[in-house]
Amino acid sequence: MILTMTDSGNIKPAQPDTILQAGRTLQGGGLVAFPTETVYGLGADATNDRAVAAIFAAKQRLRFNPLIVHVLDLNAALQLVEFDPLSQRLAAQFWPGPFTLILKRRATCGISLLVSAGLDTLAIRVPAHPVAQALLRAALCPIAAPSANVSGKISPTTAQHVAEELGGKVALILDGGSCAVGVESTVVQVSEGRAHLLRPGGITREQIEAITGAAMLADTGGPLRSPGQLESHYAPRLSLRLNALSAGQREAGLGFGASVPIGAAKICNLSVSGDLTEAAANLFAMLRALDKPEFTGIAVVSIPSHGLGEAINDRLARAANR
Ligand code: TXA
Ligand code: MG
Repeated sequence: MILTMTDSGNIKPAQPDTILQAGRTLQGGGLVAFPTETVYGLGADATNDRAVAAIFAAKQRLRFNPLIVHVLDLNAALQLVEFDPLSQRLAAQFWPGPFTLILKRRATCGISLLVSAGLDTLAIRVPAHPVAQALLRAALCPIAAPSANVSGKISPTTAQHVAEELGGKVALILDGGSCAVGVESTVVQVSEGRAHLLRPGGITREQIEAITGAAMLADTGGPLRSPGQLESHYAPRLSLRLNALSAGQREAGLGFGASVPIGAAKICNLSVSGDLTEAAANLFAMLRALDKPEFTGIAVVSIPSHGLGEAINDRLARAANR
């Protein structure tokens, strides 16, 4: 008999006492998984080398891939990094929220060098989720947190997803329900007065360009490259077939709006009404739901590329590339 170990014993509903306990765990150098509006994060005290090293070990993450530091507000960010005027405008507009800025580390920031993975920059985000905010207040330290999944796998949008993959490796999983945004934060770096899009995410290109008044430049593959944008990521066990019109007999299907892969053995629809916000929120949970051994693969219909569609298509392309 094969037993599946879901080890959900360390999931606790996020409430004042469990958040305080989680804050103490972080202060003691432990790992805590917690909800943000994008995906669940695997958090550690960003100033503690050993705690940060434990994140890399738990996720089996490559050491050259730096982590995002979560802080309570712009003031807390100003202690850690230097802002140029455009970055400050973007921060004022999109924080708190699903938005991450790459900025130059201050020599006095106290953040573990492991967090930056050898770069002289830090990725900073102010999360909007009330549990993430309460945890930052309880821990009284900046929290380094990548998505709480094994490196290369699908990001978690529920506490149960975290327990399935990392349950045994984390002291506590705070359960705050499903993540509302569902795709990770947008990662932006300003260089020579221009914003570069390092990772599409929960804040859309259109929203950012409305503030900057200029087209965002792409990740050039040069010094601005985001090391985490590996080509294979977010990968289910099954292979993904993109822009599918129909499905094979034993293939599962992922649809959007009126478009579903014809003939699929099982279908999930990202958004029956064709709403990209709803589709982003459903993306990772539906990929997990279809990633079952009774199917031979997952056929995915074409998804519009505007708005949150850019982040959805980015994740699907990486999930298909394996
Ligand atoms: O929504 C999110 O951003 C979630 C939640 C938990 O906040 N976190 C997240 O972290 O997605 P992670 O580690 O899965 O992705 C962080 C991304 C990676 O692509 C990483 O390479 C990039 O940010 N990054 C981090 N620090 C960087 C830096 N100093 N320069 C360039 N890219 C950086
Ligand atoms: Mg990730």
